[in-house]
Amino acid sequence: MTERIYNFSAGPAVLPVEVLEQASGEMLSLNGIGMSVMEVSHRSKHFEPILENATSGIRELLQVPDNYKILFLQGGASLQFSMIPMNFLGAGESADYVVTGTWGKKAVKEAKRCGNVNTIFSTADSGFKSVPTPDELAFSENAEYVHYTSNETIEGVEFKRDLDGKGLPIVCDASSNILSKPIDVEKYALIYAGAQKNIGPSGVTLVIIRDDLIERVPENQHSMLDYRLLAENNSMLNTPNTWGIYIINLVCEHIKKHGGLAVMERKNEEKAKILYDAIDRSDGFYRGHVEPAARSLMNVTYRLPSEELEKQFTSEATEQGLDGLKGHRSVGGIRASIYNAFPKEGVEALVEFMRDFANKNG
Ligand SMILES: Cc1ncc(COP(=O)(O)O)c(C=O)c1O
Repeated sequence: MTERIYNFSAGPAVLPVEVLEQASGEMLSLNGIGMSVMEVSHRSKHFEPILENATSGIRELLQVPDNYKILFLQGGASLQFSMIPMNFLGAGESADYVVTGTWGKKAVKEAKRCGNVNTIFSTADSGFKSVPTPDELAFSENAEYVHYTSNETIEGVEFKRDLDGKGLPIVCDASSNILSKPIDVEKYALIYAGAQKNIGPSGVTLVIIRDDLIERVPENQHSMLDYRLLAENNSMLNTPNTWGIYIINLVCEHIKKHGGLAVMERKNEEKAKILYDAIDRSDGFYRGHVEPAARSLMNVTYRLPSEELEKQFTSEATEQGLDGLKGHRSVGGIRASIYNAFPKEGVEALVEFMRDFANKNG
């Protein structure tokens, strides 16, 4: 089968067809060199421009100022849960964490191994359905940094604004909404994201880190966990994920060609609206999980009247070429992930399927 289906997977997720086609065309011989990108040295003249272009692609799209380094690391976004406190939260020091979903909770768990964690805001008790308003956040005076998750992939909860740290360094897990819209990078001290949703394949983690934070890395840090060393070596302290960085470069080129992040945002808003409208107009057959003000443009989560119907829904959807709609095992229900590369036609196909399904089973 070579035909593409509609892939609603939360990650690894759909990539632009043009990117896949280019990678496929270059698989046996990259730029006529007779080798693929996976077969050349990361220190060769063949790979050098790829890393350079991936870095400048990210810098251009997100308008990253010069006093930030762009790194492509390994260990997933999950390793950042540990690396951040291991570098910036010493014993006896404190950091503030804002928890609006499962991933934020996991970040807290790792940070607690290093120092004091103040969970200054959590929606765990209400089932992770909202984000705080600026008035609801009171930062600790002595916090080394404030950590939050701009889009909680499992629950489908998204901040609609860059968090203002009021002078404190803001650290953001942007794994599932990076590159989906313009952001003001200057509001952040560190942004990190696993690549496998909007940027590329799994196995590479984007880290954007401000120079003054790099200065705070403790002496004698383990080399592979040391942002300073990793930055000094331009992400090549060891062998980086060359294939991942290659795809990231192609994705950046693709986004630039198609208008940049403002265009991505407009398209993402359009797609999400189609789906949320279908949920809201279903007379209660479909129930959105998240409060309207915090609804994610990337991960649309909703429930049906029973778990049995949810099972039937995902299995019939799969038969019709709508794949990956099962909610995360921890929350159940339906989750439609509609990242940058997910086509509007796929959302329209899902909405049509939802209408039919509700008519037959409502
Ligand atoms: C918001 C968020 N943070 C962290 C992670 C963990 O990423 P990784 O699997 O790259 O460690 C994920 C994975 O889906 C995520 O969605």
